[in-house]
Amino acid sequence: MPCHKLAMDFVSVLGILATLIFRVSSETCVEPTSDFFLQLALKVDADSPVSQTLQFFQEQLRSTVLSTALQWSTLRHFPPRWQRGLDSKCANIGRRFPALVSQNLSVLEAYRHYACHVAPDYFITDPDVALTADVAALENGCISFSAKPTVVMATNGTHRYDAYRHCSGSCPDDPAWQELSVEMVDEDILVLPSTRTIPGMEYQHALTDLLAQAWTVLPLLRGSNMKLVIYSPIQGQLLQSMGIPSEQLLDIPITSLEAHKLLCVKPGRTMTLCRTGRVDGADPPFLERTDPRIYADFWWRLPGYRLGPEVSDAIARYAGFTESRPDSVVFVQRCSERRQLANEPEAVGAVTRVLVEAKSDFQLLTFCPGREDFLEQVRKVRQARLIIGEHGGALANMLLAQNGTGIIELVGSPEAQIGVPGQFPPYKSMWYGGAGAAFAFYRVVLYEPTLVGPAVRLEDLQEAVQQWLRA
Ligand SMILES: *[C@@H]1O[C@H](CO)[C@@H](O)[C@H](O)[C@H]1NC(C)=O
Ligand SMILES: *[C@@H]1O[C@H](CO)[C@@H](O)[C@H](O)[C@H]1NC(C)=O
Ligand SMILES: *[C@@H]1O[C@H](CO)[C@@H](O)[C@H](O)[C@H]1NC(C)=O
Repeated sequence: MPCHKLAMDFVSVLGILATLIFRVSSETCVEPTSDFFLQLALKVDADSPVSQTLQFFQEQLRSTVLSTALQWSTLRHFPPRWQRGLDSKCANIGRRFPALVSQNLSVLEAYRHYACHVAPDYFITDPDVALTADVAALENGCISFSAKPTVVMATNGTHRYDAYRHCSGSCPDDPAWQELSVEMVDEDILVLPSTRTIPGMEYQHALTDLLAQAWTVLPLLRGSNMKLVIYSPIQGQLLQSMGIPSEQLLDIPITSLEAHKLLCVKPGRTMTLCRTGRVDGADPPFLERTDPRIYADFWWRLPGYRLGPEVSDAIARYAGFTESRPDSVVFVQRCSERRQLANEPEAVGAVTRVLVEAKSDFQLLTFCPGREDFLEQVRKVRQARLIIGEHGGALANMLLAQNGTGIIELVGSPEAQIGVPGQFPPYKSMWYGGAGAAFAFYRVVLYEPTLVGPAVRLEDLQEAVQQWLRA
């Protein structure tokens, strides 16, 4: 088939991209079955300037022409956490914001004011929405990805999926989109677009953003030639612990926040994508790329937290654990220098006193995650009936708890967050806009700045433990 005939076909399909297409196809003799986008990617692969791929991707980002949506099929359903409507903005507490325990009325009132009046519209995630875990095939496609993406888009020229946030034309001007490097793979791959690979925080993000989705698609991987894309060795280690063989993992390393990649499959190959969908078949809403509300639209964490106990059971089964019933209160310590509580020993003492006074049979276990090997960590967390810990990566281990485990999270008061490096909205919690509602019992207690450093409110912590014992 002559090249120019083919170019005409593409023009009729792709309309506004006609000039670009013509330029490319008159330079390269394209295969009739392969798509134009891939021709560009292949040119990059063959050492020519990346500008054409980028130009195409940027056109796609800017494009107002509707691409065809992918055909999603549902693997799992997640019914709403509760069947109730939002009767007032203050109903956000216990829904998009966790319930705070305090014996101090002004602390409670400040929190209520924040959740009801200052930030009621912060989170757009909602545990009352029925969700699904879906997959769809994208043939000959490419997807953008990075350690901590602000927008994720997959396309093959005819079909497009906005996997995270939207651009409204602003993306092509973002430095990230100017520096995309192309990775071409000659494999059928499975991509979990919600994966985050923040350097130094790979472990906790594997727990919150990767494991549950990988668990959901595991049946598809079995007996197929597909490879699941991972971005760091620790992700591979955790996935293997639930029984995914290393031959079915494809490591495309991301080692810096500045790395922005375009992952493409070669012609004839399929990229299977995973999403958190709504029961009506639509995508849950995402914010604009430039919206400053962080974590506000992390929809995948809602089913992710609900699958935590299943994932944990799978890991325990695969490791062949022999276990007794969970009988511990586990106090997760922060053994790193960052954000350590000045009164952590007193907090452990305060919890001990409540357990002793209540003549409870629970034993108190303290541990420093990260200092133990992964399976040892899973074993300890699976002993927990209640997990107590300061907000942060170590507490992400709550996702490895057994069904029925309670959580008491120590979160910073708005004053305690001031000047802390990183992105900290007031009262930042692992609840994440509703994900924490997966736990039957979940309370937060404040720590506040003091002269010697951040200190947890001890009476409030004791009150929270008492509430858990009574629950
Ligand atoms: C309540 O807590 C605030 C903030 O820690 C403190 O300033 C205030 O004195 C407390 N009020 C009471 C009655 O303990
Ligand atoms: C894009 O992917 C869809 C879904 O797999 C497929 O039907 C379509 O033919 C692909 N388009 C191109 C140009 O390969
Ligand atoms: C988890 O426990 C709750 C009761 O606390 C129960 O209703 C639910 O079915 C359990 N889920 C699983 C997956 O066992």
